[in-house]
Amino acid sequence: MTAETAPAYPLSATLAQKIDGILDAHDHDATQIVGILLDVQDIIPEQFVPEAVAFYIAEKLPIKVSIIYDCLTFYSALSDKPRAKYPIQVCRSVVCKVNDSDGLLEILKKYLNIEVGEITYDGRFMIEEVPCFGACDMAPAVRINGEVYGNLYSEENIKALLAKFI
Ligand code: FES
Repeated sequence: MTAETAPAYPLSATLAQKIDGILDAHDHDATQIVGILLDVQDIIPEQFVPEAVAFYIAEKLPIKVSIIYDCLTFYSALSDKPRAKYPIQVCRSVVCKVNDSDGLLEILKKYLNIEVGEITYDGRFMIEEVPCFGACDMAPAVRINGEVYGNLYSEENIKALLAKFI
């Protein structure tokens, strides 16, 4: 199926209503598409933008659905595939690397018992590797649903971070 072909399944009325609210909050302004998609992704438990939702937004703005898919593939904070409730995005750029983001990643894998790209059995966490998101002053850092958490240089700090989401 191409990105311009409408999906066969409908959206629930409740979800459509919530999306309408988000579009209203952004004044139906297509230049705010990234913010719109982030807000919509936030109200979907698996933290992604399903195909039916992408087409709904495209029709409502209106905007080409291919532009929505360009955003979903370009921005690491967005996804068109189901994720965990809390995707842990580990920065893999240079400042975090020199501050031992490798160690951070290993500890996350050990505690969550998953590899990068996998989801925990309860659907709560997944680990993603992403480029710098501008929190270099608190490297090594992660981003979870748009919030940045830094100074994750010790096992204690990492355990305390995970505890916030359990
Ligand atoms: S290098 Fe990691 S947030 Fe910038």
